[in-house]
Amino acid sequence: MSEQRYLTFALGKGRLANKTLELLEQIGITCEEMKDKESRKLIFVNEELKLKFFLAKGPDVPTYVEYGAADIGVVGKDTIIEEQRRVLEVLDLGFGKCRMCVCGPESARDLLNHHEMIRVATKYPIIAKDYFYNKKHQTVDIIKLNGSVELGPIVGLSDVIVDIVETGSTLRENGLGVLEEICPLSARMIVNQVSMQMESERIKNLIAAIKSQL
Ligand code: PRP
Repeated sequence: MSEQRYLTFALGKGRLANKTLELLEQIGITCEEMKDKESRKLIFVNEELKLKFFLAKGPDVPTYVEYGAADIGVVGKDTIIEEQRRVLEVLDLGFGKCRMCVCGPESARDLLNHHEMIRVATKYPIIAKDYFYNKKHQTVDIIKLNGSVELGPIVGLSDVIVDIVETGSTLRENGLGVLEEICPLSARMIVNQVSMQMESERIKNLIAAIKSQL
């Protein structure tokens, strides 16, 4: 039998990566090297199972997977929609549950209801554009931000925001609320299209093992 090649995982840094590693441990896939918080290493190997893992910025995960630099990725559905990469979404992992919403001060509700020309601040311009232009048929001015989007309505940059809401505490603490819900979100497993064919047996077994734990 020919030497097995490595299967490479790209994991979105942070909470999703930790949850993914917990889930993989439950099915007997561990990576001791990765638990060393002091390490500056970027890529970790499990020689026995011929697996490699690396951590990347969430929005870069679908990029690595599309180009085949990673066979498999774990990332939020928000990032999958926003990045529009050619990857196969194979599994809803059920954690990282949250919602993409239009949020703002209660006073902005009328502006939304009357389809006014409003300003929308967001880290997700593609999702915001699709929602307002294609679903609501409302012309809006979309302003791209890179984080702390809740500041938008507070400092007068925008009327509303399109952002992720998990517990809702960031909104509450800043006098904002959910005005409209766009879609539910959670962590998903994505696979490179070629890998899915070339390594179909290993990847299908992995998907089945994870499913049995969900
Ligand atoms: C996300 C999101 C909200 C917050 C929602 O921000 O953009 O700000 O979490 O969570 P909550 O409903 O539980 O309060 P993140 O922490 O990813 O940082 P960011 O502001 O840099 O986007």
